[in-house]
Amino acid sequence: MSRVLMVVSEATPFCKTGGLADVAGALPAALRERGEDVAVVLPQYLDLKLPVPPREVWRDLAIRVGPRLFTADIYGTEHGGATFYFVACPALYGRHGIYSGPAGDFLDNHVRYAALSLAALGVARHLFRPQVLHCHDWQAALAPVYMRTAFAGDPTFMGIRTVLTIHNLGYQGRFPGATMGELGLDPGLFNPEGLEFYGDVNFLKGGIAFSDSITTVSQKYAEEIQTPENGFGLDGFLRARADRIQGIVNGVDYADWNPETDRRIARNYSADDLSGKVECKRALIAEMGLPAEAMGRPLIGIVSRFAGQKGFDLVEEIAQAIADEDVSVAILGSGEARFEDSFRRFASARPDRFAARIGYDDGLAHRIEAGADLFLMPSRYEPCGLNQIYSLRYGTPPVVRATGGLDDTIDDTIEDGTGFKFREYTGAGLLGAIREALAAYRDAEGWAARMRRGMKKDFSWKVSAGKYANLYRRLTEAR
Ligand code: ADP
Ligand code: GLC
Repeated sequence: MSRVLMVVSEATPFCKTGGLADVAGALPAALRERGEDVAVVLPQYLDLKLPVPPREVWRDLAIRVGPRLFTADIYGTEHGGATFYFVACPALYGRHGIYSGPAGDFLDNHVRYAALSLAALGVARHLFRPQVLHCHDWQAALAPVYMRTAFAGDPTFMGIRTVLTIHNLGYQGRFPGATMGELGLDPGLFNPEGLEFYGDVNFLKGGIAFSDSITTVSQKYAEEIQTPENGFGLDGFLRARADRIQGIVNGVDYADWNPETDRRIARNYSADDLSGKVECKRALIAEMGLPAEAMGRPLIGIVSRFAGQKGFDLVEEIAQAIADEDVSVAILGSGEARFEDSFRRFASARPDRFAARIGYDDGLAHRIEAGADLFLMPSRYEPCGLNQIYSLRYGTPPVVRATGGLDDTIDDTIEDGTGFKFREYTGAGLLGAIREALAAYRDAEGWAARMRRGMKKDFSWKVSAGKYANLYRRLTEAR
């Protein structure tokens, strides 16, 4: 058994912008189930969803970020058997939005997340003494840096081992070099072996430099980030630490994503009785405002952040060709204006084939997983990806690009196939995979067998939580 303190910027059910929150909400519970002792530190954002009011567990924690002194109160609540500690500091987190507001990214994000790391060290000192500090993404990446530099001589932190999980190398927490002075770090760390990156401060690079172990969210992605193509300028830095890097694929929370019990969908169904799925399709077609004839065609679902990473430039490229196929498309997502506009445009040009909801809607995300026949994830890169795993469970074979976690979790072989893959990042590649899927769909028996194979796959957290537990044990025993 290890005592592990996680540091993270979002976690379901409290706050979420993407898959990171799903992981941070479910992994602690899975670790608890194995007997690990886990707590989590995250900011107390203004818009937090708190099922029960948390209790105050510490008052007036001083957080000194360079020249500025903040005070935070710490609140605690139980979720999945783990304590979640919220850092209440209104000056930093008491505003609408997690990373950004209507005017874009908050300009003080470097201070907000430096403070999160420092607050986590405060929690480690006063409330939960860990053996392992497990930090997620750039927002938590300074914790090991502060621990090993500013607090190097502090007996509280001696012997604590550190893990950094990279959920997405595309987001590094990169700020102008001048912000170094605001972080309260030794200026000597501003060099290419530390936090310096092309003249900027790079939080994630600091975390990589100072963590005992680095994990990422699939095996394939662990290899990809060490190549120039997917390394976002850090591939060399990562290659130099290859012996410390390991891929552990995400699990999913089947308590939340299960068509047999999901209360957000029109009718429950299972691998043994698929009849309810037809009702889910009918309800989805009505909800999205597609014409009733769409029942007679395969329906492709998309649920995503609209970011460059997700491959929607390929969908833009082949939208006309998709509309010419015998298929309809139901889209839910939000993000870059370019893609929001494109999808709105397709829907108004071809309302018979495309329906788009721009926004964030957890219930509709479930109903698309259930009601669609196929799920589309043409990502340029994908560290793990969760929606393709959800769609397996909902009997909605995914069409994915063979990259990162998509490649690791989807099988496109003839005998064991659960979905469809394309390799070259081109519109033609994507169109080829969609056509292959549509052809396969016409063989009803083969299709049902493919659906059932996907539905029976087990990507629950059990196995992956065991891998984290082994890593913690290895680190603490190696001391
Ligand atoms: P990423 O974290 O890169 O966005 P993942 O596939 O790991 O990708 O996780 C995305 C998560 O966010 C899934 O749980 C998905 O259902 C959810 N999601 C993304 N966009 C939306 C949206 N517009 N509405 C509801 N849920 C969404
Ligand atoms: C990131 C990645 C996504 C991954 C998620 C959770 O948001 O983009 O692929 O599934 O983190 O690890």
